[in-house]
Amino acid sequence: MEITLKSPLDMHLHLRDGDMLRTVAPLSSQSFAGAIVMPNLVPPVTTKDSLLSYKERILEATKGDVFTPYMTLFFKSTYDYDFLADFGDTLTAIKLYPAGITTNSEGGVSGFELDTLRPTLEAMSELGLPLCIHGETNGFVMDREAQFVPIYEKLANAFPKLKIIMEHITTKESVEALERYENLYATITLHHLLITLDDVAGGMLKPHLFCKPIAKRPHDKEALLEVALEGNPKVMFGSDSAPHPQHAKESCGCAAGVFSAPLALIALAELFEKHNALKKLQNFVSNNAQKIYSITPAEKTILLKKQPTLIPAKYGNVVPMLANEEVLWSIEQIR
Ligand code: DOR
Ligand code: ZN
Repeated sequence: MEITLKSPLDMHLHLRDGDMLRTVAPLSSQSFAGAIVMPNLVPPVTTKDSLLSYKERILEATKGDVFTPYMTLFFKSTYDYDFLADFGDTLTAIKLYPAGITTNSEGGVSGFELDTLRPTLEAMSELGLPLCIHGETNGFVMDREAQFVPIYEKLANAFPKLKIIMEHITTKESVEALERYENLYATITLHHLLITLDDVAGGMLKPHLFCKPIAKRPHDKEALLEVALEGNPKVMFGSDSAPHPQHAKESCGCAAGVFSAPLALIALAELFEKHNALKKLQNFVSNNAQKIYSITPAEKTILLKKQPTLIPAKYGNVVPMLANEEVLWSIEQIR
């Protein structure tokens, strides 16, 4: 059995910088035609200079591959229309983090008062720049995302022309909110389609499955699967592949992040086939994102075949999801 994917896109990706960038970027650029690159470097990407030089380093690290890094800025409520307009099409979206909610988010926003956010969000609406949000409050860890839904709704109501992407959704509540607002969209990760909190902490603790937002309950996973597998146009694939060195994961104080980029496409093929939904995979990994973001990626064709791949124990010093396990599909050809 085979399937061809045209220009797959990863709409939420952490590429890091330096040696880590050089290790992980080719593992995405080989099989994806493009990716939305997260700005949570240290310090975060907040200026045109830092965005353009980061993009150059990514292009250097992915040289030889057909791959577009779609760049994002780290949200600040001080950005105004002129500042944002000056980026032209080098800027694809802006990522908003609540302060301190996850890795390198200390400089994020500490409140969601409309008066504070309005100037930047109005400028983004006018420029057609999507707003990507890490939607978690600082409440109880299992409830953080559901508690954030009213904030999504408030923003969606106040800025109806602004496209708001609910990043890496993990709950039934988020799926339901998507359907209520025309301008709400979402990315869904591979790991949140495969695991629940039981897989992370139900037996021996699995640090390589620990991430933010934490994996939730079985009925949440079912709700995510339903919209992904039907190719629902409001959702798109975003791996949230977030590499950390092995010592930072296997330590007292485990860093949040699942590294899934190298195996994402073959594991998605296995999942979609298992649910008789292979025909919808193209929507989930590319077509929906192209429409939501109004982008046309370079042409790249990936032929996947039902033939097992053994996932390596490590890539450099990073342990991937499904390390040492077999995925039932493999990449046969990249054109
Ligand atoms: O698990 C996560 N890791 N969630 C995030 O939101 C950030 C990411 C990272 O940068 O490591
Ligand atoms: Zn992320």
